[in-house]
Amino acid sequence: MNKLWGGRFTKRPEQWIDEFGASIEFDQQLVEEDIEGSLAHVKMLQKCAILSESDAKQIIDGLHVLLEKAKKKELSFSAEYEDIHLNLEKLLIDEIGPVGGKLHTGRSRNDQVATDMHLYLKKHVNVILSLLHELEHVLVTKAEQHVETIFPGYTHLQRAQPVSFAHHLLAYVAMFKRDAQRYEESLKRIDLSPLGSGALAGTTFPIDRQYSAQLLGFHGIYENSMDAVSDRDFIIEFLSNSSILMMHLSRFCEELIIWSSHEFQFIEMDDTYATGSSIMPQKKNPDMAELIRGKTGRVYGHLFSLLTVLKGTPLTYNKDLQEDKEGMFDTVTTIEGCLTIFAGMIETMTVKTDVMEKATQQDFSNATELADYLAAKGMPFREAHEIVGKVVLTCIQKGIYLMDLSFDQYKEASHLFEEDIYEVLHPKTAVNRRNSAGGTGFEQVKMAIQKEKQRLNDV
Ligand code: ARG
Repeated sequence: MNKLWGGRFTKRPEQWIDEFGASIEFDQQLVEEDIEGSLAHVKMLQKCAILSESDAKQIIDGLHVLLEKAKKKELSFSAEYEDIHLNLEKLLIDEIGPVGGKLHTGRSRNDQVATDMHLYLKKHVNVILSLLHELEHVLVTKAEQHVETIFPGYTHLQRAQPVSFAHHLLAYVAMFKRDAQRYEESLKRIDLSPLGSGALAGTTFPIDRQYSAQLLGFHGIYENSMDAVSDRDFIIEFLSNSSILMMHLSRFCEELIIWSSHEFQFIEMDDTYATGSSIMPQKKNPDMAELIRGKTGRVYGHLFSLLTVLKGTPLTYNKDLQEDKEGMFDTVTTIEGCLTIFAGMIETMTVKTDVMEKATQQDFSNATELADYLAAKGMPFREAHEIVGKVVLTCIQKGIYLMDLSFDQYKEASHLFEEDIYEVLHPKTAVNRRNSAGGTGFEQVKMAIQKEKQRLNDV
């Protein structure tokens, strides 16, 4: 029996059972974190005089050899050794002999695997944070170029009121800012060391958990050993934050897809982010935006999958928890990929300002201006709304827009109308006059851009 835990067994499992239970196929992604964790553990064991200097040195040297090989992808793993932890322990013993077996003193795979995942997520949440920062930078830069680009703002996907295109882009900056805040906040809980909790109850050895945590760069340790080995909240939180982020990306993608349709023609994707059709020569499909929208589904799926895995597991470690990894890895790959592609897509897209502006002149999205105009002259807003509604109806019946209605007809609708209504009706005026805090008026938008630039250290 050559299993590392084989002592109490009389029979080897069949190979296919080994394979079913093994996680090595995917948890080998944790190879560097696992070695890093082992290095900290063994240094701590030495410091606490649990291991002799010479034993510790041999183990540390051996782990460094493995780390080098891991970086060069020279290690070979086997399902027979189940997971990354046992594979590495086996490789260490092969490398330095039986002294390698002392590494696992005062430790269990339960605190080991949790430590690996904390290290892994801490690293990747930081990568995601910098990708989010880059995306925000791209959006703010785009916004800066489009403060005075007049864009039809929608509600119910019906033209509502004209806005500055920059204002629309900055709405997404606000969402991504919250996403970044959520990830940052979650780091407090990711950045904790479970190491030294043992299988569940702590250990009889006089270990120093603070020391190994410090070596690993964690800002603190889990306070309860049972919680430490069974907690997967930090992964659920990561999947949840990632689901919200994907929802934002997906909404934006939906807009990009609509905007690049022939019906809208507000933007054109750069060729890099579009594909053609194998049959229809005229096609330019916004594939990347569609794919990001589609990938949102798998991230939601991972969140629900892990919530469901966890809901029935009694304390502490259960093998069910091995199911925590693939969704986490896939979410990291998905988020990092989507953020990179998305930023590139925004940066390179062509904004057809003329089409956008023209759109705002061929609709009734300036109707609120007329109602506000009358209300500003003392008419109760409800009454103004009614009058303007009738004016709109007249225009629709005549097949014209508000700008085209004669002054006499305006006078007929209300004596409060003066010649200046044509200026008020102009979409650019309509946008610029909305100077209330957080509104789309150019001054507000410029201020918002400055604020974001300062936050992003872009000035
Ligand atoms: N491969 C296992 C996992 O990913 C490691 C922990 C195993 N612990 C145990 N007691 N079987 O969850």
